[in-house]
Amino acid sequence: MSQVRPTDAGVRRTLTRLLGPIAAELVEVERRLQQELRHSDPYIDELARHSFRIGGKRLRPALLLLSARLIGEINDDHRTLAAVVEMVHTATLVHDDVLDDAVVRRHCETMNARWDNHSSILLGDFLFTHAFAMASSLDDVFACRALSDATNKVCEGELRQTAARGEFWLSRRDYLEIVEAKTADLCACCCELGVRYAGGSPADGKRLAAFGRDLGIAFQIADDLLDLEGDELVTGKSLGTDLAHQKMTLPLIFLRDRAAEADAARLQALFDERDPAHTALLVDWLEESGALREARRTAEEYAQQAAAELASLPDSPAKQTLLEVARFVVAREA
Ligand code: IPE
Ligand code: IPE
Ligand code: MG
Ligand code: MG
Repeated sequence: MSQVRPTDAGVRRTLTRLLGPIAAELVEVERRLQQELRHSDPYIDELARHSFRIGGKRLRPALLLLSARLIGEINDDHRTLAAVVEMVHTATLVHDDVLDDAVVRRHCETMNARWDNHSSILLGDFLFTHAFAMASSLDDVFACRALSDATNKVCEGELRQTAARGEFWLSRRDYLEIVEAKTADLCACCCELGVRYAGGSPADGKRLAAFGRDLGIAFQIADDLLDLEGDELVTGKSLGTDLAHQKMTLPLIFLRDRAAEADAARLQALFDERDPAHTALLVDWLEESGALREARRTAEEYAQQAAAELASLPDSPAKQTLLEVARFVVAREA
């Protein structure tokens, strides 16, 4: 298997419409990514290209570019940084697929499935360092500092999540802190960079960072729902990996906390067993108990909180698009 047939045409159409106002800029970001990742060594060249193949939503570059346009004009620094954040994000995915033993990503075989863990770890490192070298080409160090902090947070989140594996009694607060670190901080950073390099005020930078953070939390809760009830042909990535690796996610936390003692014990037994044959049963239980709905509602609340961060800014097409992106991250099927 070298490629899984994508059936995410609906998601692609939605994204194309949604990101239409920055389509030309995204094409330029794509061109830079392809150009940056060309390598004289055919093995490195193939690995790097593979990681950027079809299927990525390019959400982080979009957040950066839209935040820039919200405040002013998109300039060359933004285009460089948009490529940088996508490179950082892709590096985290390459490493994450090793951690999760995932075999499909972006409708293709993962690096670890097609090659091996060694090449995946090294390619992830290669992408991280390449991204930081690109960011250091800017005139000031703000982007390097912000990106270092955000990338460090991703690692912190993934480490905390690894430490919490098998922890059935993980608190909702710990879950949300992990999500904020591993996913939301980078989204916040993208928005803040967009503002900063458009000449926006620190206050606007903070406002957009808060928008990105809340949107990122909503995004990851929705991702965790997709891991339980999504369709691999649509998401284009391996699902069910959270249960397989005993990660407590929000629907399970809700079900656990609402359950009577005996039911909580039964849930814990299912969680501990890690038997994929029981996943359907568990998802039915989560559905019937209302835990899936409750988790989705929580994601929607974060998306609404993100939208509220923009309330004091004047209306504009970029603002409308950002608000739509906040709705999309919860409603998406991929
Ligand atoms: C997946 O991110 C990793 C998470 C933070 C949940 P995306 O869903 O944005 O992945 P791509 O870039 O579209 O492949
Ligand atoms: C990982 O979260 C987020 C990252 C920091 C890469 P997940 O493990 O849920 O991401 P997916 O579902 O594999 O994309
Ligand atoms: Mg994963
Ligand atoms: Mg996931």
